Amino acid sequence: MICQSYLYEHIENYILKLAEKKIVTPGEKLPSLRTISKTFQVSMTTAMKAYEELESKGLIYSVEKSGYYLKPQNSVKIPERKNSIINKSPVENIDIINSILNDTQNKNILPLGAAVASPKLMPHKELKSFTREVINGSENQYINYTATAGFYDLRVEIARLMALRDFYVSPEEIIITNGAMEGIFYILSSVAEQGDAIAVESPTYFGYQHVLKKLGMYPVEIPACPEKGIDIDYLQKAKDKYDIKCIITQPAFSNPTGSLMCEDKKHYLRSLASEKFIIIEDDTFGTLSHTYKKITPLANPSKTDHIIYVSSFSKTVSPGSRIGWIIPNKYYKDVYEAKLANNMSSASLPQLVMAKYLQSGKFHNHIKKLSKTLFLQISAYREELSRLFGSSIRMTNPKGGFLLWLQLPEKTDTLVLYHKALDHGIGFSPGAIFSSKPDKFRNYLRINCGYPLNAGIEKGLCKIYELYNRMF
Ligand SMILES: Cc1ncc(COP(=O)(O)O)c(C=O)c1O
Repeated sequence: MICQSYLYEHIENYILKLAEKKIVTPGEKLPSLRTISKTFQVSMTTAMKAYEELESKGLIYSVEKSGYYLKPQNSVKIPERKNSIINKSPVENIDIINSILNDTQNKNILPLGAAVASPKLMPHKELKSFTREVINGSENQYINYTATAGFYDLRVEIARLMALRDFYVSPEEIIITNGAMEGIFYILSSVAEQGDAIAVESPTYFGYQHVLKKLGMYPVEIPACPEKGIDIDYLQKAKDKYDIKCIITQPAFSNPTGSLMCEDKKHYLRSLASEKFIIIEDDTFGTLSHTYKKITPLANPSKTDHIIYVSSFSKTVSPGSRIGWIIPNKYYKDVYEAKLANNMSSASLPQLVMAKYLQSGKFHNHIKKLSKTLFLQISAYREELSRLFGSSIRMTNPKGGFLLWLQLPEKTDTLVLYHKALDHGIGFSPGAIFSSKPDKFRNYLRINCGYPLNAGIEKGLCKIYELYNRMF
């Protein structure tokens, strides 16, 4: 079974590579099933399965009695990157971020704002059943504290997940946190000090601004390409100019752009990591590859002592469980003490339930199914948005995660558009919250595609377009 699924994925990746390298162009006929079967020495059923998967993802189409063809993808351009370093300066937009975060908590607002997948896509049945099992268990373990580093069995399961991505750590090297956000707080408070300059990608996840502001640290924003992530030349320039203590980077499917860092860039970044320049890798979206491609974390291999890894189950299993983890490498003791000083241990019940869920082995199939669904959802949103806005927008085409980053014409102020949409019960994330300077991404916005594109959401997107048109 494992072997069979590997084979068809191998074929899928082969076709994707042919398309990526333009060896086959949109509209061109693909190798026949018979050719695929012969080339890869697989059964016709396996060849067919690979093509069916690609077809269901909207990448190829079939013509009766003729064969399979590469589907032309809509030609919306990728958003432009902003090529300016924002100097070491205080965070200016916390009030805007707070007010927008507050709006996302309103259940009556259409969920195009917060980066969350629909609870229906999460393994809620399993979580319910394992919660019951834990509570009914004779040991009443959930009543007690767990270890400060986290429930051991959960750390074993996380170590197994990491090993599947070629990142080998022992459970003793892992610290459980209340989500990735708390992890980032512990890391920064352990390795940097008040007044330090911290490099972040630009645009980047707004949650970092809260931590930096609270700790009295200053972001230095490094331009990042919406497809390939942080610009190394700019990083080097910023490093030379400011005494940057560390960098927070999201190599895989970053928030908000969905960018994916190539191996060469990772290799170079690894070579920069040192006691004087610590790298924090936020891998919150790292397992949500649309093509099931295994993404090896930046923090691997083990020689990278000065790279600290952080992730969570918020985007894959349940944000409400608040389970994240850190692999602090050389900084284990400092991070452990930060956790100890803040909370003796994370809540026991979610950890026990998550451990049982992971032990059940259901996580892998869930992730596969989820990634495929998210791919289909994001493709549907892209199609709808390009139908509505046409060539007036630029939009990302991420290879993982569930977020779309849009660039609207220069004259658009997406914060104004946001407030207009909110009056109609529609949320999205305006560009103002993805930089410490609210004006930098004034004409950009992020759309959450974590919910299926139903009639209500279609109507909401139409309304955004209508309001946008009425602004001029
Ligand atoms: C890149 C990134 N890091 C961290 C977080 C926070 O995640 P958690 O819920 O695990 O604290 C988010 C949430 O959206 C995120 O997008």
